[in-house]
Amino acid sequence: MADIQIRRVRAQDVHDLQRISRETFFQAFAAANTKENMEHYLRENLSRKRLAAELAHEQSEFYFAVTDDTVIGYLKLNYGEAQTELKDEYGLEIERIYVLETFYGKNVGQLLYHKALEIAKERNAPYLWLGVWEENARAIRFYEKNGFKRFGKHNFMLGDDKQTDILMKQQLP
Ligand SMILES: CC(C)(COP(=O)(O)OP(=O)(O)OC[C@H]1O[C@@H](n2cnc3c(N)ncnc32)[C@H](O)[C@@H]1OP(=O)(O)O)[C@@H](O)C(=O)NCCC(=O)NCCS
Repeated sequence: MADIQIRRVRAQDVHDLQRISRETFFQAFAAANTKENMEHYLRENLSRKRLAAELAHEQSEFYFAVTDDTVIGYLKLNYGEAQTELKDEYGLEIERIYVLETFYGKNVGQLLYHKALEIAKERNAPYLWLGVWEENARAIRFYEKNGFKRFGKHNFMLGDDKQTDILMKQQLP
């Protein structure tokens, strides 16, 4: 496979960010959820306006995985007040790692996760944490393989469906 670069997403990339966010979310979750709940999430959570605001947040960072000038995955990190929970001053949350389906199993997720580790080290973060849907077996395996351990649960609304996310944490040296 051609080289894959990881690069920071800028405000002017919001169009590409929306496209990769919608496509990867749909590929990952459409089969296991109703059309209405999927549409609700795409409309409310992945609107251009919402993503532009997330990109502008000074305590969030987005990164694209790019090959041959094509965006094939992305990472969203939060720290401080931008974290969706815990909000520990020193914690670092991986809110999203999403890769296009045709690239699953090709190490793109690993490259994005390594970017998260690099940022965690730069920030001297004592740990990385995340929430992942309890039915998302592939992602849970991916995080366990990378040393994350379960430490709790929280609820997540997908449209009108109350789902359970497993919270996972990785202590850093
Ligand atoms: C979870 C995810 C980021 C992992 O990224 P990745 O680049 O596929 O990571 P890896 O290359 O390490 O492969 C992960 C696993 O997928 C498996 N896999 C390989 N080819 C696959 C395919 N065509 N379809 C599905 N899974 C495949 C691999 O066997 C590997 O499992 P293993 O480590 O037990 O062998 C990616 O699968 C993804 O984007 N999933 C959808 C979005 C999602 O669930 N994100 C996490 C939510 S927070």
